[in-house]
Amino acid sequence: MIKKGLELREFLEIEGGHNLSGTIEVSGAKNAALPNMAATILTEEEVILENLPMLLDVFTMKDLLRFIGFEIQKKDTGVYIFKQNTVNSLVAPYDLVSKMRASILVLGPMLSRFKYAKVALPGGCSIGTRPVDLHLKALEKMGAHIKVEHGYIIARAYNGLKGAEINFEKITVTGTENIMMAAVLAEGQTIINNAAKEPEVVDLAKMLKKMGADIQGEGTSRIIINGVKKLKGTNHKIIPDRIEAGTFAVLSALFDGNIIIKNYPNQYLKYVNKVFRKIGIHIIPIGENEVIVRREKNLRPVSIQTKEYPFFPTDLQAQFMTLLSIVKGVSKITENIFENRFMHVPELKRLGADIKVENRTAFIKGVKKLTGAEVKATDLRASAAMVLAGLIAEGKTRIYDIYHLDRGYENIDIKLKNLGAKIYRGVVEKEI
Ligand code: EPZ
Repeated sequence: MIKKGLELREFLEIEGGHNLSGTIEVSGAKNAALPNMAATILTEEEVILENLPMLLDVFTMKDLLRFIGFEIQKKDTGVYIFKQNTVNSLVAPYDLVSKMRASILVLGPMLSRFKYAKVALPGGCSIGTRPVDLHLKALEKMGAHIKVEHGYIIARAYNGLKGAEINFEKITVTGTENIMMAAVLAEGQTIINNAAKEPEVVDLAKMLKKMGADIQGEGTSRIIINGVKKLKGTNHKIIPDRIEAGTFAVLSALFDGNIIIKNYPNQYLKYVNKVFRKIGIHIIPIGENEVIVRREKNLRPVSIQTKEYPFFPTDLQAQFMTLLSIVKGVSKITENIFENRFMHVPELKRLGADIKVENRTAFIKGVKKLTGAEVKATDLRASAAMVLAGLIAEGKTRIYDIYHLDRGYENIDIKLKNLGAKIYRGVVEKEI
């Protein structure tokens, strides 16, 4: 029973300085699983998804699909059968969308298949306002009538969506995915210019083509989709999570590579591996998608610009900042994608990092060591950066607000414990 005026606050406590070794496995990609799950709305037939990561965001997307009318059965670890038995609702309610802004991904498929969708407007999050204007403008160009009222996007396309030429003024990952899913059942041809090229976009296209969609050009900035009448079910395996993999590579570099990483998708991390090499860290393949990490004696400071794929991903920016915080010299990281993705800087400074932010650039002056403190996770990927920092900091670090972490990293504390980390979850009562 929680005493009045108190609330429970979960945290991870880490005792730093213990050397880690062993094997760690990369799970299925969160940012592929979410659009792939949304794509099951496009068919009345059964879809089997494999390698689904067990993450809060995946559970939220399952809740959303069940709310719409899906039956979802577990077939095996990470293997789920999606079958739409009825159409209970064409609404994505605020209480679910507010937990996960990627819920916007049901808008395109719902509109495409049912010609109607009511989706709560996703709020912003700590890394930025996260607008969806480009999604909506593109759907209107395809013939949808969209109005936004009382915090909901209400979209109608009673005569069905029509193919159109979409010119995205900004590269948007979920925008590209939403329009691709809207276009596969639309009448005629849709061309997406300035499309996102992320591997997760390519994985979605691959799944849709297995369902009978007619798509070319995925992975380039111009995707062409010819609408078809119906899509059938399929069986699809989610690609490995390149961001989790990059996070584990930073972890290995911090512990001089006694860690084997399984399912490391080298092909999606070419540019990241190049930045590692500039720092003096080498990703060495030792088998089928298995790597170890070796580092030179003296690591070097670098300058990093986050950009859309295939360049340096914004989702690895915080993790590299932790690494560079103990590399002698001054490194620079410029965040070009989101307007507020340096929330981890003040938290890293509490651990003794020496970082200055000027507009969109952080200047990181390497220090000899970090020392433990109480900190908080500020967004999904920053929370991973704080865990990495806690593992190398001298003494104890306590990280609060770790729900961010569970949204994007499957059982991260268990995976780290298996490497010898002294890490445990706790709960404390906090004055409201
Ligand atoms: C996807 O978000 C990822 N999420 C994000 O990962 C990732 O950081 C981001 O792409 C960039 O790579 C999923 O795939 C579920 P965007 P998304 O639309 O699609 C602006 C994580 O850590 N924009 O590519 O929402 C936007 O503000 C998450 O797993 C508009 O202005 O990102 C941003 O500045 C965090 N209007 C830029 O474009 C729009 O309509 C890129 O955003 C849409 C986007």
